[in-house]
Amino acid sequence: FRKRLKISEIKGGPEEGLGLVGQTLTVMGWVRTLRAQSSVTFIEVNDGSCLSNMQCVMDSDAEGYDQVESGLVSTGASIWIQGILVASQGSKQKVELKVKKIMLVGKSDPSYPIQKKRVSREFLRTKAHLRPRTNTFGAVSRVRNALAYATHKFFQENGFVWVSSPIITSSDCEGAGEQFCVTTLIPSSGETTATPIDAIPKTENGLIDWSQDFFAKPAFLTVSGQLNAETYATALSDVYTFGPTFRAENSNTARHLAEFWMIEPELAFADLDDDMACATAYLQYVVRHVLENCKEDMEFFNTWIEKGIIDRLTDVVNKDFVQLTYTDAVELLVKSKKKFEFPVKWGCDLQSEHERYITEQVFRGCPVIIRDYPKDIKAFYMRQNDDGRTVAAMDMLVPRVGELIGGSQREERLEYLEARLDDLKLNKDTYWWYLDLRRYGSVPHAGFGLGFERLVQFATGIENIRDTIPFPRAPGSSEF
Ligand code: 4AD
Ligand code: MG
Repeated sequence: FRKRLKISEIKGGPEEGLGLVGQTLTVMGWVRTLRAQSSVTFIEVNDGSCLSNMQCVMDSDAEGYDQVESGLVSTGASIWIQGILVASQGSKQKVELKVKKIMLVGKSDPSYPIQKKRVSREFLRTKAHLRPRTNTFGAVSRVRNALAYATHKFFQENGFVWVSSPIITSSDCEGAGEQFCVTTLIPSSGETTATPIDAIPKTENGLIDWSQDFFAKPAFLTVSGQLNAETYATALSDVYTFGPTFRAENSNTARHLAEFWMIEPELAFADLDDDMACATAYLQYVVRHVLENCKEDMEFFNTWIEKGIIDRLTDVVNKDFVQLTYTDAVELLVKSKKKFEFPVKWGCDLQSEHERYITEQVFRGCPVIIRDYPKDIKAFYMRQNDDGRTVAAMDMLVPRVGELIGGSQREERLEYLEARLDDLKLNKDTYWWYLDLRRYGSVPHAGFGLGFERLVQFATGIENIRDTIPFPRAPGSSEF
């Protein structure tokens, strides 16, 4: 494997590149800008390895100069450049490349839509295939990658086993009926003449005939890998999933996607306090990792996306998170006398306006963990508290994003779980394997789910969740 030298390695090298001065280096990338002055031409090249470009300075005796002169080397084109690294006269960079030879690899049509002028993020969403070539999306992609790396690092260093939970499933973990269904377009008879939508096997009354379908039973895209993670936690002790999940909730907001990635740790022999401690340690670890390892990109966000984000994240790493019960949170909201769109009373689900008020106004930017929610607004698997009306659930709220994490201690007592399934009129037969975990060596266990794109929002200051994932899927998406 021939490793190519990247701009990040040159600029991140000894003395910010000055240690390599005098060496002949090769750079390959895409032209960001090109400025021709009377005797020299400046080309800014970016290869995606870091935010900053390599400034390449060329005069007319460089080999391949004719391609520049004729206008073939333009914004967006891919090029190969060889030259000598020299100390830069300019104030923006320590080093630049004095070009000896330039080769055009792929020219760029003048219709290239990512020109130097600032383009809106809405516009860029319609150009999802080209937007990684902008500063913002390059930086988001690198920070997203760093967060994923730090996630694995945190769990691996703490003895968790990564488990791949299935994407196709027949159970609805959250019981919210927000699943996408999976069905085949080729009827089992093998007929291929039908138009795709007609090809789904149907019953007489027009519903999907699942017995004729691929799996011979209803199949859905997973909304959460938690139930599968629980089976592995009750064998391997501490596990985590990290993969795509899907929700057909029709929420056209800046915090919801139809396809998003979730990280779901599950801890055996653990209660809600252990769960909250793990969530706090995890968040502080990954945020610290990004602050330490993505300095250039974080400075960019601090200047252009959210002023003060570095200070805000530094506080997250160093300060204790606030904890309060749902009951106290409701009291605090009622007492605030603030006019919310959705009035608050005990028993209602907290809306994003309430969550943001708590973290942004009351606790001034500090993450807040709310625990012990009413059982009627939470999923069937959460452990009932002794008061009979709340469950051992927790949500971690952060400024700007609202709910970043949702978790709970799981109901490990067979008779309680069966009673809860009956209460909610859920079919016990479909949960037979989940109940088995309570039949054979049940243990107190707890876990949480963190929406990875919301974490990217939190760590970069990017406002809309659609700009935190390479190819966003949301209700009404026209981008694919
Ligand atoms: O609170 P949720 O629904 O919890 C679960 O799915 C549990 N089974 C997790 C567990 O205990 N293992 O979702 C967890 C997190 C939310 O806090 C939020 O960050 C994110 O997933 N999330 C979404 N992110 C983007 N778009 C959506 N539509 C999301 N729905 C949930
Ligand atoms: Mg939730």
